[in-house]
Amino acid sequence: MCGIVAYVGPKDAAPILLEGLQRLEYRGYDSAGLAVVNRGLKTRKVKGRVADLASAVPARFKGGIGIGHTRWATHGVPSDLNAHPHLDAAERIAVVHNGIIENADELRAKLTADGVDFASETDSEVLAHLISRTVKDTDSLEEAVRTALKLVVGTYGIAVVDAERSGEVVVARNGSPIVLGIGEKEMFAASDVAALVRYTRQVVHLEDGELAVLRADGFHTFTMDARETAKVPLTVDWDAGHYDTGGYEHYLLKEISEQPDTVARTLRGRIDDRFHIAHLGGLNLTPHETRAFRRVKIIGCGSAYYSGQIGAQLIEELARIPADAEPASEFRYRNPVVEHDTLYVAISQSGETYDTLAAVQELKRKGGRVLGIVNTVGSAIARECDGGVYLHAGPEVSVASTKAFTSTAVSFALLALHFGRVHDLSPADGRRICEALRLLPGQIAQILELEPRIAELARKYADHPSMMFVGRVRGYPVAREGAQKLKEISYVHAEAYPASELKHGPLALIGPDMPTVAIVPDDELLDKNLTTLGEIRARGGRVLMVGHREADPRLADDCIVVPKSEVELDPILLTLPLQLFAYHAAVALGRDVDKPRNLAKSVTVE
Ligand code: AGP
Repeated sequence: MCGIVAYVGPKDAAPILLEGLQRLEYRGYDSAGLAVVNRGLKTRKVKGRVADLASAVPARFKGGIGIGHTRWATHGVPSDLNAHPHLDAAERIAVVHNGIIENADELRAKLTADGVDFASETDSEVLAHLISRTVKDTDSLEEAVRTALKLVVGTYGIAVVDAERSGEVVVARNGSPIVLGIGEKEMFAASDVAALVRYTRQVVHLEDGELAVLRADGFHTFTMDARETAKVPLTVDWDAGHYDTGGYEHYLLKEISEQPDTVARTLRGRIDDRFHIAHLGGLNLTPHETRAFRRVKIIGCGSAYYSGQIGAQLIEELARIPADAEPASEFRYRNPVVEHDTLYVAISQSGETYDTLAAVQELKRKGGRVLGIVNTVGSAIARECDGGVYLHAGPEVSVASTKAFTSTAVSFALLALHFGRVHDLSPADGRRICEALRLLPGQIAQILELEPRIAELARKYADHPSMMFVGRVRGYPVAREGAQKLKEISYVHAEAYPASELKHGPLALIGPDMPTVAIVPDDELLDKNLTTLGEIRARGGRVLMVGHREADPRLADDCIVVPKSEVELDPILLTLPLQLFAYHAAVALGRDVDKPRNLAKSVTVE
């Protein structure tokens, strides 16, 4: 996904922009560029990596004000010309843009009719020409940006510089994140705090419809109708070290390996052993309000949605409140009925996923009460929700979500315990869950010790073009997440089905070329799951069983045995071997593990 970095201050901007762009590489991109103001605009743009851009930037690129960008092509192919920044004809204005200008064709046609020549195929370039028109008359970059944005339909996060006003950068946000970073007599802006933490931990998030003027000595924020807004800086507790691979070959392996710690952080200070309850300070719900909800609806995208399916089961089992999960990307488009006795829960690691944010905004418009389970403090989804739970899992860099998935499932366990104890969950059952939660970090560490064996299995199965993942009830979201991990990073086709549905159709696919990963927890459905394994084996299918006991060799070719938790919490632990399996399959196939093709870490566009 596109990334923005901007700087104004006493230092040379170019190295700071390049370093920031490197920090944004994990989001995925195909080209990069920057512009620095120093007696005119100096720009460099390349198709390729930030390292290619760094080699193209000469040492003479001096100047303490600049903007940089990594582009993920939407309008126009990846190329040097389509890379940002985009300039106006006079080369006075430079713009970097994240998002999509929906009326770009119309604006382009009008500008072309007025004699403007376009240098690129992008929607973003119209911004440079529109701003250029007004800046000549007003001599105010802020005013020119505001005037241009009023003509635009679509989403944007932008940063703009004017070669003739070398003291400021103007940034604006509508649907695509912009964060300001406050330094010592210097200011930064970026689309993601990752680009800022090397320089400052003091940040300010722009809201949709806000614009900011940054100068070395500070910043001012405004609404689109020029009313000044008041902002309170937040301190982020992530530092630059969080964004290093920490000696691991890939971020993904680092993040998988961090899970004993990240789960411990999600749990820290939240379990009360006296009353066997969970303390979740940010919910902003009284016990009375909590009891009044008749239903819980969970929304999120991709892996966040699958962790929501685990969450829905936890809430139904522990609190006996009907709960279900739905992809936020579907929910937002179907004009959902919003009920006042339903509690909505939105999940997002990044806190910026546009589909999830749009679903939350729709819920708020209709008077829904929304909790967020979010990793990124101060992110758009976190700000939009009425309350919620932060994961405290630290930044997740690899495109494939792992530690955020487990921490979200653990947060749901805490939420379900909290709701359960407000409803009818007995103190004895509360204690059972609290004790099991405390054991999770140690059990995760035990699973990580299985890595050499799982790597061997991954290599054994990786050369199959397709794999089936099956699970029943609690095992089904685990199977879905396992299939998701495998397909997104190894590009092996993987399909997840409820084990109970196999005989209603997909059994036709089973044969020696289509192995099955079967999630078989030791719960009340064990016998039914074992019967399914027999059905697969009878069709010549190979089976890799993931469960709590060694498999009968007549039912499974291979087996991964994980430590047992309470049945409600088993799905959390059963997910771990599937992360390692996908990782080692991707490595064996020589894939770009942390940046799989066609995918971005945070999907901030529709
Ligand atoms: C997970 O491995 C995926 N890359 C993806 O499905 C992700 O979980 C989804 O895009 C939601 O992201 P979010 O948690 O940042 O909202």
